[in-house]
Amino acid sequence: MKHSMNSISLIHITLSFLLFLTFNFPDVFAAPSRHLCHPKQRDAILEFMNELEIQKPCDKFPKTESWANNSDCCSWDGISCDTNLRDVIELNLGYSCLHGQLNSKSAIFMLENLRSLNLIGNNFSGEIPSSLGNLSHLTTLYLSSNNFSGKIPSSLGNLSNLTTLVLSDNNFDGEIPSSLGRLKQLVRLEVAYNKFSGNFPIILGNLTNLSYLSISNNHFVGTLPPNISSSLPNLEGFYANHNTFTGTPPSSLFTIPSLIFIDLADNQLNGTLEFGNISSSSNSKLGSLWLGNNNFSGPIPKSISKLVNLTAIDLSHYNTQGPVDFSIFSHLKSLRFLYLSHLNTTTTFDLNAILSCCSKSLVILDLSGNHVSATKKSSSVSDPPLLIEFNLSRCGLTEFPGILRTQNEMRFFDISNNKIKGQVPGWLWTFPDLTYVDISRNTFTSFEISTKPGAMQPSMSYLRGTNNNFTGEVPSFICAFCSLLILDLSNNKFNGSIPPCLGNFSSTLQVLNLRKNRLCGGLPENISASLQSLDIGHNHLMGKLPRSLVRISSLQVLNVESNKINDTFPFWLSSLQELQVLVLRSNAFQGPMIHQAGFPKLRIIDISSNHFSGTLPSDCFATWTSMFSLGKNEDQSNGAYMGTGYYSDSMVLMNKGVEMELVRILKIYTAIDFSGNKFQGQIPTSIGLLKELHVLNMSNNAFTGNIPSSMANMVELESLDVSLNKLSGDIPQELGKLSYLAYMNFSYNQLVGLVPGGTQFLTQPCSSFEDNPGLYGPTLDQVCVDIHGKTHQSLTSEPEEDEEEVISWIAAAIGFIPGIAIGLMMGYIFVCYKPELFNFGQNKRRSIFTTIH
Ligand SMILES: *[C@@H]1O[C@H](CO)[C@@H](O)[C@H](O)[C@H]1NC(C)=O
Ligand SMILES: *[C@@H]1O[C@H](CO)[C@@H](O)[C@H](O)[C@H]1NC(C)=O
Ligand SMILES: *[C@@H]1O[C@H](CO)[C@@H](O)[C@H](O)[C@H]1NC(C)=O
Ligand SMILES: *[C@@H]1O[C@H](CO)[C@@H](O)[C@H](O)[C@H]1NC(C)=O
Ligand SMILES: *[C@@H]1O[C@H](CO)[C@@H](O)[C@H](O)[C@H]1NC(C)=O
Ligand SMILES: *[C@@H]1O[C@H](CO)[C@@H](O)[C@H](O)[C@H]1NC(C)=O
Ligand SMILES: *[C@@H]1O[C@H](CO)[C@@H](O)[C@H](O)[C@H]1NC(C)=O
Ligand SMILES: *[C@@H]1O[C@H](CO)[C@@H](O)[C@H](O)[C@H]1NC(C)=O
Ligand SMILES: *[C@@H]1O[C@H](CO)[C@@H](O)[C@H](O)[C@H]1NC(C)=O
Ligand SMILES: *[C@@H]1O[C@H](CO)[C@@H](O)[C@H](O)[C@H]1NC(C)=O
Ligand SMILES: *[C@@H]1O[C@H](CO)[C@@H](O)[C@H](O)[C@H]1NC(C)=O
Ligand SMILES: *[C@@H]1O[C@H](CO)[C@@H](O)[C@H](O)[C@H]1NC(C)=O
Repeated sequence: MKHSMNSISLIHITLSFLLFLTFNFPDVFAAPSRHLCHPKQRDAILEFMNELEIQKPCDKFPKTESWANNSDCCSWDGISCDTNLRDVIELNLGYSCLHGQLNSKSAIFMLENLRSLNLIGNNFSGEIPSSLGNLSHLTTLYLSSNNFSGKIPSSLGNLSNLTTLVLSDNNFDGEIPSSLGRLKQLVRLEVAYNKFSGNFPIILGNLTNLSYLSISNNHFVGTLPPNISSSLPNLEGFYANHNTFTGTPPSSLFTIPSLIFIDLADNQLNGTLEFGNISSSSNSKLGSLWLGNNNFSGPIPKSISKLVNLTAIDLSHYNTQGPVDFSIFSHLKSLRFLYLSHLNTTTTFDLNAILSCCSKSLVILDLSGNHVSATKKSSSVSDPPLLIEFNLSRCGLTEFPGILRTQNEMRFFDISNNKIKGQVPGWLWTFPDLTYVDISRNTFTSFEISTKPGAMQPSMSYLRGTNNNFTGEVPSFICAFCSLLILDLSNNKFNGSIPPCLGNFSSTLQVLNLRKNRLCGGLPENISASLQSLDIGHNHLMGKLPRSLVRISSLQVLNVESNKINDTFPFWLSSLQELQVLVLRSNAFQGPMIHQAGFPKLRIIDISSNHFSGTLPSDCFATWTSMFSLGKNEDQSNGAYMGTGYYSDSMVLMNKGVEMELVRILKIYTAIDFSGNKFQGQIPTSIGLLKELHVLNMSNNAFTGNIPSSMANMVELESLDVSLNKLSGDIPQELGKLSYLAYMNFSYNQLVGLVPGGTQFLTQPCSSFEDNPGLYGPTLDQVCVDIHGKTHQSLTSEPEEDEEEVISWIAAAIGFIPGIAIGLMMGYIFVCYKPELFNFGQNKRRSIFTTIH
């Protein structure tokens, strides 16, 4: 994507320049004598464009826009000609919103003198035709970031002058054809982010000029070839991360004299790592060594200390089977990034020792998941490295390390999941660039008042202090963090009222989570207008919902469950265009639902266990269009779960008769829970509009009339509970067709007639139908085998909750977390952090925050 930005801006500049020319010197292009282009080649180009479609809207700058029939095609944007022969030799159509296929008869193959073809960042699909191998003069071929699929044609091995072949980020599969071994001139080969499989493409062993090889993020298996160093003697960058390579990498790999960057992380490499013969005063150029998340075992090779030009090392999840001698890193004077998380080692790292022996250039240190010892008193390490990012999560710490007091360049600090008691030291908040702090899951009881009270800290944007033992009032010094984005202090014992200053955040706060504390009083009237998520559930809050909430146009999640809020239904929130989750459960809300058009994005509404009453308006559900069809929910492109940056919303919901904690809320999840109120009258037939609804709970009210047969339109329904009402008439036969309806409960009503058939009805427990006077039929006979015939009044059988099903449902709801979490984090990083923090010298894009919360 970085490439794309650069190219786009370049194109932009080019375009603007061209426009400038056109407007100011119209004669330049009009002069016929200037024509260079062969008409045949011009026609071929135009014909090629005719084979394609320019996708609209296009947020890029389609190069074709500056083309016209009557001007010299050699001057067209993206096209270059040989000045003597007037042949088109370069076609650069990168990032031009092109959609289509390259078919074997494409006019592009008439440009037989083409030396450079660039189609990066379009939307080409289908296979590459083997006729591409006819463009024998090609030296560079860029097809990356499209949707090409299928196998690589072996004819590409005919492009004997090719120096650069970039096929990354497509849908290619199969093996790398052995014919590519004939491309002796190849300097750069990139096939990352595809679905290539098979063993390491051994044929690459003949490409002695290769200096840049990227095969990462594919499905390659097997071992890395032992002779790789002799066959690729000019390798500078080698990326094989995110595959399934096994075995031990050949030690000679690390001694290729030209090698600068090597990434073997996220494979299943095993055995004992060796770095080969590194001569003492090393002339190794190796700058980055990424070996994390493999299965290496045995001691970390001491010879690592001879790789003196290393700036980045990742040995995470290394099983050292014994102690680690930290001093082996002390010779690496250029070391800036050191990832040593989750080592399996007998060593307890002494923080003083580490900070005194490490390179002064060190800025990122990840020791998470190791045993680390530290004392509270600030002992003296003279001239320690000044870290920018320090991860001490899950290190078994019992004291807050006093030695960090001088680390005043810190931006990212994670000390979560330790056993630290007592106060969070005030000096922490004096670090001027502090941006991200996670102190959650310890047993802190209070915050020491900052030594610089009142100082503005514009950098602080993320504070997570959940699951501690904090008591007293929410500290007001937090209000000095004037650019806070995320504040999560849930699961503590804070009491007192919500500090009014939390409303004063200039308009940055996106997430405020104070769930599960002991807060009392009313809700603050002024709440940051940029909030996306407000969760103050499980406190002792009273009064009404502040009407100012209606000004928070970005609000997506509002959860006030389990408080003592006494108000009427907040219809005035219906104008919030982004509101997706509304939870009012277990409060003292009362009064009727009055229909008001709105709530266009509402997907989850839980108003259960309140005192709502009256009849539901007939068009109650008529504007909840997000539950009609999720196709409209364009937000899903930003990850599958609700949340922002490092924060994931969570909630508890009744589903299929059990209370279920959603650790993350899937964006495709929809639910309505009106249970435990005093609603009466009919269930409106407009409910049938909610074709995307997954969970519907209307139980424990006083609904009368029939179950609307329109419910048969709710084809996604998984859980339906209408028990404990006064419903009469039949269960609509059409409900038997709802194929996902795994849980239903019709008990304790006045239903009569034939119970529908169908797989789902037949798998219900008998108790789902109990206490209805007139239900009958074969379905009931089958599910209530022991009773024969009619439903029984006094059924005592336990509801057979299908445990497996619940578990798999949870799995589905919280599945694929790691990938998504990383995605979200990356998004956050690129938005909020200063670019230089992520500049790994070698253009390596990699999340520096390796912990997944
Ligand atoms: C190019 O010429 C053809 C016919 O010669 C015409 O149909 C087409 O619209 C022209 N395209 C442009 C961009 O002028
Ligand atoms: C690519 O084209 C397909 C239609 O075939 C479309 O669905 C998809 O959104 C396009 N992708 C991009 C990134 O424009
Ligand atoms: C192009 O390549 C295809 C298959 O590789 C071949 O059959 C065809 O004859 C070639 N065409 C020309 C014009 O060289
Ligand atoms: C390959 O490059 C060499 C040297 O530039 C040149 O002489 C030769 O003609 C090229 N071959 C093809 C097929 O373009
Ligand atoms: C990519 O192509 C496949 C078919 O090969 C298609 O199913 C998929 O939707 C396409 N993806 C995009 C983003 O266009
Ligand atoms: C091009 O490659 C194909 C397939 O690898 C091969 O059959 C053909 O003979 C080659 N053509 C030339 C001109 O080398
Ligand atoms: C590599 O080149 C050698 C000779 O240079 C040749 O014998 C061998 O067959 C080639 N290997 C492959 C896989 O092309
Ligand atoms: C590495 O793992 C493979 C199985 O994946 C095993 O066969 C092999 O013995 C292991 N090698 C070492 C050195 O542990
Ligand atoms: C190691 O790095 C230094 C400066 O960072 C550079 O001058 C030196 O040439 C590098 N050594 C090698 C062998 O590249
Ligand atoms: C740590 O290493 C020991 C010995 O190799 C092994 O038995 C143990 O399972 C490893 N622990 C973890 C968490 O991998
Ligand atoms: C939390 O604090 C209370 C006193 O406020 C104390 O009784 C309790 O033991 C503490 N819990 C932990 C886990 O330290
Ligand atoms: C809610 O407040 C009203 C007065 O505004 C009061 O009559 C009612 O009893 C309260 N309900 C609850 C459950 O506290």
